[in-house]
Amino acid sequence: MDARKGIGGSLAGVDIREEINRLRKERNAVILAHYYQAPEIQDIADFVGDSLDLSRKAADTDADVIAFCGVKFMAETAKILSPEKIVVLPDMNAGCSLEDSCPPDKFKAFREANPDHIALTYINCSADVKALSDIIVTSSSAEKILSQIPLDQKIIFAPDKHLGGYLAKKTGRDMLLWPGVCIVHEAFSETELLKLKAKHPGAPVLAHPECPAAILDHADHIGSTSSILAEAKATESDTVIVATEPHIMHQMEKALPEVTFIGAPGADGNCSCNICPYMALNTMEKLYIALRDLEPQIVMDEELRLQAKKSLDKMLEMASATVGQGDLGPPISGD
Ligand code: 13P
Ligand code: SF4
Repeated sequence: MDARKGIGGSLAGVDIREEINRLRKERNAVILAHYYQAPEIQDIADFVGDSLDLSRKAADTDADVIAFCGVKFMAETAKILSPEKIVVLPDMNAGCSLEDSCPPDKFKAFREANPDHIALTYINCSADVKALSDIIVTSSSAEKILSQIPLDQKIIFAPDKHLGGYLAKKTGRDMLLWPGVCIVHEAFSETELLKLKAKHPGAPVLAHPECPAAILDHADHIGSTSSILAEAKATESDTVIVATEPHIMHQMEKALPEVTFIGAPGADGNCSCNICPYMALNTMEKLYIALRDLEPQIVMDEELRLQAKKSLDKMLEMASATVGQGDLGPPISGD
């Protein structure tokens, strides 16, 4: 069985799809979904995107309710940017290993120990950590934002050490890295990837910068989920290897049914270990219940929200500035 296929049927005689569509209208709700969500959730969403796209949508929507199909830090971001909206997350346990790696008290102490550094923080963190940060970045905006920071400014980059390491190598900026990892991207195996490449010699490898350097070293393209998707859609190859959470291949397969997309393998030679267990907590049934009951809802202390909003506003402003490159671009060559 394809491990990416989730459930999408009925709940005790309820036609889930029909009910979601009815409730979406009745509630004036918008359904936002990340590319790592199950195919049926991506297909019913009003908008599917990467972390930056989803933040922008959440900030701009005139819906009354945002049903956020992603993980908690994403739904919190929507609430921070659109406090007047009801933001529901189908499963409140949808966390993130990067967020877990960076408790606010330890991050605060780290900042205090490095008072001459600014904190450039990946969006995959809690609202408390956002409130302790200067500028938030996503994988699609990090390089452009970094290019706007003076070269003599010392920087802490948290919580993803692989994204931070990649950015440091690509831009030559020496950043102090927090030691967090994404458990999903950490699970790819270099040995198995090399075996797969040998089996498909012409297949390009598209990788997310949350992957360890040993995986990125073999990539033909490195970028955010939206950048990987754009690269896949432009491929001239009949086979493409994808080193990120495999649900993104749903969009690739829909766009190019004649191309074979293969998920990069984990140590067992399979890609099923790379499914994000947090993203997988959201289901069609839970989305239906969230729209029906308007629960579970993101609730946030107003002082915390206003403090966290500063670093997010900075991201939105710098990501839209007319300087820099806009994405992580091609991998570093010659090393
Ligand atoms: P992007 O979609 O911004 O590339 O981020 C991936 C991710 O980590 C989602 O959790
Ligand atoms: Fe967090 Fe990784 Fe899952 Fe994204 S894929 S939500 S970074 S654990």
